[in-house]
Amino acid sequence: MMSKIMCRNTLPRVLIILAGMITAASLASSHNYTDALSKCILFFEGQRSGNLPPSQRMTWRKDSALKDGSDVGMDLVGGYYDAGDNVKFNFPMAFTTTMLSWSVLEFGNLMGSDLQQAMEAIRWGTDYFLKATNVPDSVVGVVGDPIGDHSCSQRPEDMDTPRTSYVVTKEKPGSEVSAEIAAAFAASSLVFKDSDNNYSTLLLNRSMQVFEFADKYRGSYNDSIGEGACPFYCDFSGYMDELLWGASWLYKATGAADYWNYVRENIDKMESTVIRNFNGDPVSYINGAVTEFGWDSKHSGINVLVSQWVMTDPNNSSPFILNADKFVCSILPESPTQKSVTYSPGGLLFKPGGSNLQHSTSISYLLMVYAGYMKATNKVVNCGNNVVITPDRLVNFTKGQVDYILGSNPLGMSYMVGFGPQFPQKIHHRGSVLPSLDQHPQHIDCRGGDVYWQSQGPNLNLLTGAIVGGPAENDTFQDSRYNVPQSEPTTYINAPFVGVLAYFKSLFPQLNPRK
Ligand SMILES: *[C@@H]1O[C@H](CO)[C@@H](O)[C@H](O)[C@H]1NC(C)=O
Ligand SMILES: *[C@@H]1O[C@H](CO)[C@@H](O)[C@H](O)[C@H]1NC(C)=O
Ligand SMILES: *[C@@H]1O[C@H](CO)[C@@H](O)[C@H](O)[C@H]1NC(C)=O
Ligand SMILES: *[C@@H]1O[C@H](CO)[C@@H](O)[C@H](O)[C@H]1NC(C)=O
Ligand SMILES: *[C@@H]1O[C@H](CO)[C@@H](O)[C@H](O)[C@H]1NC(C)=O
Ligand SMILES: *[C@@H]1O[C@H](CO)[C@@H](O)[C@H](O)[C@H]1NC(C)=O
Ligand SMILES: *[C@@H]1O[C@H](CO)[C@@H](O)[C@H](O)[C@H]1NC(C)=O
Repeated sequence: MMSKIMCRNTLPRVLIILAGMITAASLASSHNYTDALSKCILFFEGQRSGNLPPSQRMTWRKDSALKDGSDVGMDLVGGYYDAGDNVKFNFPMAFTTTMLSWSVLEFGNLMGSDLQQAMEAIRWGTDYFLKATNVPDSVVGVVGDPIGDHSCSQRPEDMDTPRTSYVVTKEKPGSEVSAEIAAAFAASSLVFKDSDNNYSTLLLNRSMQVFEFADKYRGSYNDSIGEGACPFYCDFSGYMDELLWGASWLYKATGAADYWNYVRENIDKMESTVIRNFNGDPVSYINGAVTEFGWDSKHSGINVLVSQWVMTDPNNSSPFILNADKFVCSILPESPTQKSVTYSPGGLLFKPGGSNLQHSTSISYLLMVYAGYMKATNKVVNCGNNVVITPDRLVNFTKGQVDYILGSNPLGMSYMVGFGPQFPQKIHHRGSVLPSLDQHPQHIDCRGGDVYWQSQGPNLNLLTGAIVGGPAENDTFQDSRYNVPQSEPTTYINAPFVGVLAYFKSLFPQLNPRK
């Protein structure tokens, strides 16, 4: 067994600018990535729960859910609403925080003045997770009774539905939600290392503590606090992927051999969920589902993350690099083994289920990061049949996804609210649909807001930067509050996009005049 502490940052963090594929044509179809990045981060202010600070820029939102945690004698005020409703689902919230942190670690030096805003978005999550993990050997998994919440359509500021706290413990464990929170703490501890060392130390300490809890008391929160988790954020892919993801982040943050050994010894134990392709045919891969990545499955994220420190180390590269390469080949349209996604006629990537743009943004993020690691080691990916994928090609591919989302698509529609001349006006989001307290200070009860949902006009409040679920597979889009899979934004669509946009902002400085 390896026991030496490995250098976990063997590759430069700064991505080498990959200018090779930038053609006149691609420049012409480019967008203002600086503007998109600012808005992408601003969106998180619209999802804030708790006491809003004086620095709040999205001012139509007000304080909400100020008694969260009182049912279990805890202070659980803060954090983020996951999407268009008012529940605090800590599992996807933690994934969001991990991805915001990873975005800053890889691309923060390209963000300019938005770096500070991105760090504040992370801290809004981590401050809350410190509260949610404040009692040893327990982790709060969800706040807000999801069924109660979904039966009313109130503004967060007016909520009078049950704010039940669902807590996992030694006896009723939840390894996926706990290990994802541990990952978020470890990743964010690196973000704050230079600017706030005390906070960074606190986050790292808590990460180790929560990871130990997650690993020692194993079980799925499906079984422990299922009323709070299912069917909304049921864990379908098991918890081994989160344990490995958490350990990988802890290794990156600490360099401690124990975490690296944990990853190497358990990487073959990931659940082999049967993943089906678009036609419903089972697609099986060794070592679990290496093509999956999102709030539920961390599989390809683990391989790409770990590849940073094993890329040039043949003794340790297996199975990570092989699996990261398989991931690449399962996506790129020219690859003979491309079978984990489909493409709309306009070129947008699709996977089954709703909220499709989460796949486009999170896969784009992983491909961008992998392109950087490949470039730094002169690596290419061979997909067979003489198809060789270069880092430049990954950037070119990702740019296609980014530009589609920002408006280069058959409808000419930007799927980011407030970006470009044409964007969704009737998104599925309570705060955006109902009037602000500024306009309507009176309480609006459970169904009192229905009239606003049924209105033909645009939403009353602009949730700037929100990326919605996105178009159908034929590139059509129904701008309707009731088409939830298409018109609802989620925090985990935006979080990886923050890193991707920072990269393209730096790649096209001519669109972003220096101030
Ligand atoms: C891009 O957006 C930024 C921020 O909104 C703005 O300052 C800049 O002028 C825009 N650039 C162009 C070329 O329109
Ligand atoms: C950081 O922690 C150290 C040791 O606990 C303490 O002395 C110091 O005042 C703290 N610094 C800040 C800025 O809080
Ligand atoms: C880390 O956490 C442990 C357990 O809660 C605590 O005893 C210890 O003082 C903490 N260390 C630091 C540096 O915060
Ligand atoms: C969680 O619940 C879903 C739906 O009931 C089920 O399909 C899945 O296997 C469960 N996951 C675990 C890890 O128990
Ligand atoms: C790989 O392992 C072999 C055999 O233990 C060793 O000789 C070699 O130096 C190792 N290579 C690296 C890059 O660590
Ligand atoms: C990708 O490269 C091809 C070939 O050079 C080019 O036609 C296409 O416009 C590029 N796509 C993007 C989004 O830049
Ligand atoms: C496009 O797909 C949507 C959703 O499947 C469907 O309702 C619509 O009829 C299709 N439109 C066209 C023009 O094929």
